[in-house]
Amino acid sequence: MIYRTCAAYAAGVLGLVLGLSLRIDMAAAEPFYVGAKKCEECHRPESDVWEGMKHAKSFGEIHRKPEVRAIIQAAGGNTNMRRNEVCIQCHYTNAKADAGAQPQAVSGPSCESCHGPASDWISVHNNFGGPNAKKADETPANRAKRQADASKAGMIWPQEIYEVAQNCMSCHGLSRPGVDGAAIGKMIEAGHPVKGEFEFVLYSQGTVRHRFYNSTTNSEMAPAEAARAFIAGHAAALVNVTAAKGKSSDAKFTAAQQKLEQAARKALDAVKGAAPEAATLLSAPTDDNAQKLVAAIASKDLSAQVGGMLPAKNTYK
Ligand code: HEC
Ligand code: HEC
Ligand code: HEC
Ligand code: HEC
Repeated sequence: MIYRTCAAYAAGVLGLVLGLSLRIDMAAAEPFYVGAKKCEECHRPESDVWEGMKHAKSFGEIHRKPEVRAIIQAAGGNTNMRRNEVCIQCHYTNAKADAGAQPQAVSGPSCESCHGPASDWISVHNNFGGPNAKKADETPANRAKRQADASKAGMIWPQEIYEVAQNCMSCHGLSRPGVDGAAIGKMIEAGHPVKGEFEFVLYSQGTVRHRFYNSTTNSEMAPAEAARAFIAGHAAALVNVTAAKGKSSDAKFTAAQQKLEQAARKALDAVKGAAPEAATLLSAPTDDNAQKLVAAIASKDLSAQVGGMLPAKNTYK
């Protein structure tokens, strides 16, 4: 459910193989990226934050880096990074104006890279109960329906922190299912970085942080929230690593996955006493077990268990 983008990509590739008409049919059925400009109309504060992220700034510079040529050669495909089928999946927002149009890299990773391709949910997520309804007047039933409809249409809600973190991991752990394992190995050998140091709090609460929630303040996470996000992030990392393990036999890729796994196991081990679901997840790292753990800690304060492991604020990326 999280990897819709890849489904769209796979559908596109399949369509190319099977013929043009099928490609058009499938493309119309798959959600697509509309681009950050659309979001900006209503989300000025979040857009300002995004413009300061590496994700946005990367667009103007990354293709000029000297190491890019060798990495593209290793991956194969179009020699223009913004058009390369592999690079596009993680480095760009491949947006289009409507279902029939040709997608184009319009920016680096943007709103929809983290919140899900929006073609099918953009008009649903702010429907507070009719054309003139305001958020303040929304009924709980409408809120539940709005969230369910948007999720079904491909939105990743910020409150679903486990899903959000899973999605970050698919790019930052180089494990995006649409990206071929053999290509990843070759790219790493050609100089593509693979660090194995992604941790959700460290990476989301620095330059990426936008937590306005209807206010003008970009608020920091309270310690209890940060502890939960730390655990949800490590739960996502463990599940992701388990799925990615056999993807490439490249030594650096394997080392990075091991590093991620060790950090995840250490964090989850520390909360076993407070949340037995963590022990279940450690012995069987499935999506389902991770979701159960995250649900079980929804109102717990795990600061006593993991407070000492949280990254210091001055190290936030
Ligand atoms: C026509 C106006 C409008 C557009 C366009 C729009 N949004 Fe929103 N969005 C809203 C409103 C209103 C809210 C609710 C604001 C709030 O809860 O503070 C919202 C809430 C959200 C939320 C938070 C959901 C929650 O309740 O926690 C996310 C995430 C979001 N929008 C992402 C996007 C993205 C990504 C785009 C572009 C693809 C986008 N929005 C386009 C109006 C819009
Ligand atoms: C599976 C996702 C993924 C794919 C596919 C991918 N990259 Fe990356 N790339 C990343 C991530 C994530 C980083 C940032 C690593 C970090 O700094 O933690 C990165 C970093 C880089 C960097 C270093 C940037 C810097 O600021 O120094 C280069 C160069 C690069 N990628 C080139 C490419 C090229 C060229 C392609 C296509 C052939 C490609 N990448 C495909 C995820 C990906
Ligand atoms: C790198 C990933 C990433 C990108 C890019 C990103 N977001 Fe978010 N967004 C998040 C995360 C993570 C949260 C949850 C923050 C929290 O509550 O801790 C979030 C929360 C939100 C919220 C709810 C909090 C608030 O500020 O009201 C809105 C709305 C939102 N994002 C809109 C956007 C829009 C619009 C863009 C593009 C201009 C964007 N996001 C780009 C990851 C991202
Ligand atoms: C679609 C793929 C993708 C997704 C999803 C994604 N990122 Fe990234 N992120 C990248 C790439 C690619 C870079 C490197 C860009 C460059 O170096 O030019 C990057 C860079 C970053 C950086 C800057 C790192 C540094 O050392 O400068 C941070 C922080 C970051 N991402 C956090 C996040 C968080 C948190 C999430 C999830 C909420 C997330 N990213 C989701 C692709 C992604």
